[in-house]
Amino acid sequence: MKSHSKLFMNMQKRTIVSLPGDGIGRVVLEETIRVLENAGFNADYVEGDIGWEFWKHEGNPLPERTIQLLEQHKISLFGAITSKPKDAAASELDPSLHEKGLVYSSPIVGLRQHFNLDVCIRPCRTYKGNPLNFIRRGQGNSIEEPEIDVAIFRQNTEGLYGGVEWSNPPEIVYKGLATHPKFIKNFGDVPVEELSISTRIFTKKATERILRAAFEYASKFGYKSVTVCEKPNVIRETSGMMYKMAQEIQAADFSGIELWNTNIDAQMMWLTKNPENYGVIVAGNMFGDIVSDGFAGLIGGLGFACSANLGKEVAVFEPTHGSAPKYADYPVSIVNPIAMMESACLMLDHIGETEIAKRIRSSISKVILDGKVRTYDMMKLTGSADVINHGAASTMQMTDAIIENL
Ligand code: IPM
Ligand code: MN
Repeated sequence: MKSHSKLFMNMQKRTIVSLPGDGIGRVVLEETIRVLENAGFNADYVEGDIGWEFWKHEGNPLPERTIQLLEQHKISLFGAITSKPKDAAASELDPSLHEKGLVYSSPIVGLRQHFNLDVCIRPCRTYKGNPLNFIRRGQGNSIEEPEIDVAIFRQNTEGLYGGVEWSNPPEIVYKGLATHPKFIKNFGDVPVEELSISTRIFTKKATERILRAAFEYASKFGYKSVTVCEKPNVIRETSGMMYKMAQEIQAADFSGIELWNTNIDAQMMWLTKNPENYGVIVAGNMFGDIVSDGFAGLIGGLGFACSANLGKEVAVFEPTHGSAPKYADYPVSIVNPIAMMESACLMLDHIGETEIAKRIRSSISKVILDGKVRTYDMMKLTGSADVINHGAASTMQMTDAIIENL
């Protein structure tokens, strides 16, 4: 009886919330769904409203109805988002919404906070034959192409993204800060209205969650090391706590995995020296954001950078590129859809459809290795509508090639 109902659960059609967002988000998402369908993934898709349009016309880029869709269906594929600074955002609001005190904030950051999607995974793996792979000079002027296989674990909700910040802080905050001797020493003579403060708060609970997720992943997929990439020599409390907790967790439960410790600045320099040496990397929110873009640059850049935002119940999968508004209205789309497709593979892994994920990844590998179908970025062309006339594959042609190789 039990096994029957389990079987039924597995066969039940899933509903995925599709969140195209802005700009090229829609085309990469639609093409990705085409791949999913051709790969045999059986699902329904419901579209959620998110992004610039909803900011302009409703004053909210992340409407409550979208939150409800995610509450209901739990799993989402997310395209891309346009973000603009505070004042630019305010000036594009519908006139009827002016003077309501609305302040724009990024809806993807909003989703991460709302659903506590605190574990962000960003794998960066070299595809053989990708002309965008990082190369460097080796001995005797030889050319080396290191094979990179890194998974970045970014704490996704706290730190500098926690949103606890002020310009001209209220008196009670000022007084609290003034209890710190360093505040008095370094900032004591600054008028309060000249102070801007962004806090970097780490909690033990979330720090432990991201660290354990990193170690568990390393252990499951056979990575030999976990590197904490922070700055504990200067940022003693938060970075320091993360590294200390990593030492404790490693000693107690993961003694077979090496624990390394790098500073974010040095790590960025080592990107070009020895990126092949790293396995799993774990960092707080801001440094995780930085180091993941750094590694993405070595494997082909934004067209290849995928991510998973995981909470206890809800999970959102997104390419880490932006919405590229200037390419959004081309008659034939030129953008590389692979980052979105890789993100969909992370989704498939997450929901247990690992075989389908494997098929899609191996098809992407074949198309890249084959080298006949390449989007403009892979041909090192400057993006323009004209790249198609120079032999670049369109988004659809790249998708077709991937589908043919499934
Ligand atoms: C990312 C992006 C976002 C972030 C932006 C768009 C808010 O850079 O997902 O890496 O900073 O987290
Ligand atoms: Mn980023």
